[in-house]
Amino acid sequence: MSVERKEAIRGAYRLTGGSGFYDGMITCSTLSGKAVCRLVWAMNKTECDAYLEKTLSGIPEHFSGRLLEVPVGTGILTMPVYKTLPEADITCLDYSPDMMKQAQEKAEHLQLRNVTFRQGDVGALPYNDGTFDIVLSLNGFHAFPDKEAAYREVLRVLKPGGTFCGCFYVQGEHRRTDWFIRHAYEKAGFFTPPYETVFSLKGRLEQTYEAVRAGNLKSIAWFCCRKAK
Ligand SMILES: C[S@@+](CC[C@H](N)C(=O)[O-])C[C@H]1O[C@@H](n2cnc3c(N)ncnc32)[C@H](O)[C@@H]1O
Repeated sequence: MSVERKEAIRGAYRLTGGSGFYDGMITCSTLSGKAVCRLVWAMNKTECDAYLEKTLSGIPEHFSGRLLEVPVGTGILTMPVYKTLPEADITCLDYSPDMMKQAQEKAEHLQLRNVTFRQGDVGALPYNDGTFDIVLSLNGFHAFPDKEAAYREVLRVLKPGGTFCGCFYVQGEHRRTDWFIRHAYEKAGFFTPPYETVFSLKGRLEQTYEAVRAGNLKSIAWFCCRKAK
């Protein structure tokens, strides 16, 4: 991974002027964000950066094709990375206009000209079959209500030979995290069961995709795989 991308990941919060609690938490950057990472996820910033690096390793350094990111959320993790991909044609989709507005503001702040935004449902993606070279999904599948539809749609909109990479919560890796997910995150509506385990995720991807690479850092699984040609 290039120094430029590593720095984009490490400095995401600083670079985009991250806004608020969510951005601080997901980048493990602010005092409150670090506390949540430690308490809920048993992770420090180095570990958070590490799973992101693994996930983004599926995107070539000088990528110039079409990439779909779903869900983009507030864009805190990816807008700085897109700054390093000026030749790519990037589409960001999310169900929540409020989250996406924050991503759009970051894209404007970073003067990204190659990133477009669209509100929509991952379970019914508004794109033709075989549209994208890469689909990137960070921290989304544990939130999606209809995960089977999401998996189907990602596969459908990928070109043959295209790459699917992402990361999300998997259960059964850390008891304290599982407790918080069940008793707090689900109740607040942030997460929706059922969840994958590391084992079930690898099995699912290996059934559908080729060249599967997958692993986990505590309760976050990351993966990269390729749709058959
Ligand atoms: C935990 S956030 C992750 C955002 C971002 N990728 C990140 O890592 O910070 C989950 C996002 O999933 C979005 N979401 C939930 N259900 C969705 C759906 N059916 N289609 C598209 N986005 C959805 C939510 O609006 C929210 O922005």
